Amino acid sequence: VFPLVVAVDGPAGSGKSSVSKEVARRLGFGFLDTGAAYRALAWHVEASGVDTDDAASVVSCLPSFAYRIGTDPAGYAVHVGEVDVTTAIRDPEISAVVSRVARVPEVRTHLIELFRSIIAEEPTAGIVVEGRDITTVVAPDAPVRILLTASEDVRIARRSAELVGDSAQAAGEQLHRRDEADSKVVDFMTAADGVTTVDSTELDFDQTVDAVIGVIRATQ
Ligand code: C5P
Repeated sequence: VFPLVVAVDGPAGSGKSSVSKEVARRLGFGFLDTGAAYRALAWHVEASGVDTDDAASVVSCLPSFAYRIGTDPAGYAVHVGEVDVTTAIRDPEISAVVSRVARVPEVRTHLIELFRSIIAEEPTAGIVVEGRDITTVVAPDAPVRILLTASEDVRIARRSAELVGDSAQAAGEQLHRRDEADSKVVDFMTAADGVTTVDSTELDFDQTVDAVIGVIRATQ
């Protein structure tokens, strides 16, 4: 039986990853962070000494991209070959270049196929899949489709909560730039037809998790 797919899209800093992971944990579902795959590819391209700005060279890195990601929300880890890149892919240096890798059409085709096979092989009853184009491209037929948003001020404030001074400001600027670049490739700022918007601007983490679970329950 195919797992119940919960598709979640949204901009940077919307809390998609942490909220989706917690929703999956509470429901006993799998969890797939597609942004982590784009980040892992950016890491692989950099580790291969290739210029992320050169699309043809980025594409040449795809055959050697041995990406492994678990879908268990409890023991979540990302590997490229034998290297555990779970922490490294969160580095600001990766955030700064990931959009250049993600805009290459061959990259998207390759990763979308990968995501669909991970979804098809999910052993539990459902899987929460989050990213930018899940509701529209990766799983447009998903029974549950959600756009998780929050005002840019709130997203920047959450992202830079642990940072101070210059690095907090830099994080805010980077978030804005990344959304701008990513929006040129896929539209995740407005909800597509049939997609339910959950706006977390005025909600805390638990309230956001409850709101998403509420949308899932309402569809079943
Ligand atoms: O979700 P996260 O911020 O970790 O995503 C990192 C990057 O991966 C995004 O900035 C975007 O360039 C790319 N991405 C994408 N499509 C997705 C998920 C992420 O292009 N479905």
